[in-house]
Amino acid sequence: MSRIERVHAREVLDSRGKPTVEVEVTCTGARPGRAIVPSGASTGKFEAVELRDGDDARLDGTGVLQAVANVRGEIASAIIGMDANDQQSIDHRLCELDGTDNKSRLGANATLGVSLATAYAAAESKGVQLVEHLGEIWQECRESNPNLADPLAGRGHGALGNGPLLPLPMVNMISGGRHAGDNIEFQDFLVLPVGAKSYRQALDWIVTIYRRLGELLCERGYEGVLVGDEGGFGPKLRSNEEAVELVIAAIEAAGLEPGTDAMIGLDVASTEFYADGTYQLAENGGQRLSSDGMIDLLADWVDRYPIISIEDGLAEDDWDGWKRLTERLGDRVQLIGDDLFVTNSVRLQRGIDTGTANSVLVKLNQIGTLWETLETIRLAIENGYLPVVSARSGETEDATIADLVVATGAGQIKVGSIVRSERLAKYNQLLRLEEHLNGANYIGRDVFRPLKADG
Ligand code: PGA
Ligand code: ZN
Repeated sequence: MSRIERVHAREVLDSRGKPTVEVEVTCTGARPGRAIVPSGASTGKFEAVELRDGDDARLDGTGVLQAVANVRGEIASAIIGMDANDQQSIDHRLCELDGTDNKSRLGANATLGVSLATAYAAAESKGVQLVEHLGEIWQECRESNPNLADPLAGRGHGALGNGPLLPLPMVNMISGGRHAGDNIEFQDFLVLPVGAKSYRQALDWIVTIYRRLGELLCERGYEGVLVGDEGGFGPKLRSNEEAVELVIAAIEAAGLEPGTDAMIGLDVASTEFYADGTYQLAENGGQRLSSDGMIDLLADWVDRYPIISIEDGLAEDDWDGWKRLTERLGDRVQLIGDDLFVTNSVRLQRGIDTGTANSVLVKLNQIGTLWETLETIRLAIENGYLPVVSARSGETEDATIADLVVATGAGQIKVGSIVRSERLAKYNQLLRLEEHLNGANYIGRDVFRPLKADG
């Protein structure tokens, strides 16, 4: 038993200089475990609630002192004396204490901070690394549902969810939308180094591609380009499509083969430009596309470019459109629901039941506890959906998701670009884990084996 003795919280700052919650949980006789909560910008409306003070006199209302007080007071009283190894009971207690569907009373920033710091505290108490402790909790989560005895049975996968695995990174090269001052509408143009032999090689390739892309932007006259919130270049391009062309050119300039060594991913984040039932793009003098118009646009790109992954191609409420998108592209392309599913097993179950999407973005703070996040990963894997563990656009030095993706064997991680230290905190932790777990495989393109066209 690792008895929780102390629970403490404070307000710190994230990568956008916005206040966020840091929590320390200490077990008897051990060093404190500490975690910091991230924060999104292009948030989905069904996410768990991030509690902000709303008092305009201080930091324009963005303070999180109420969430901090909730941790120090009500939550501390409820969990002191509990066993930090029993993540399920701790997280269940947090949900019960909050009492709402969306953590709006105590704040998902309060509950997640406590939930993650508890995992770190348990690892400290046992004298193991976080990745090992998370591996044990993941095992418990799997065993609490007998269906996962044979993950992806009949779908020819089996590699996911079975112990430590180095993930395929989806790395942001060009940023748009809310993360780069609305320069272009689509939010992320990503590279997926599917052909690399190891995680380290994948990262080498990514760094080279990023450098070549910087040079290409200068050559095309986009001088002095700054980076967006996640470190991707944020040029004011002529069109969204130009971003795809540029990333492909950068892969080639790095001496790699698009489609074989590296493939393209998009986070359209279309909820952000969906209004009055249409998708509103500045392209071609201002387009107003229906769902089917968007599907045609994306299908046309998939025919012409080596695109293997599309996130939020349609908006969070457009379930009918999403179903048609899945029918059209779901056997060739990973279709990730971010705003659509918000890491919520109830929404993901609706997707499974209706044949909507084939992948789910996993963001801890969208749901607000570690155990619920593990349950969503489990639900995805047992139904043949690919989980992608993701950071937020507002991040910190906290690198928990690197350990999480490896421990669960979820298979993919999306953290942003390879500049800015809050991003590197995760990529560098993965390098350490690769060394620590020598023998753990890099999954590379195998992660897409369930997609028929990828063979
Ligand atoms: P967010 O962006 O953290 O601003 O929501 C990340 C994403 O949309 O995937
Ligand atoms: Zn997204």
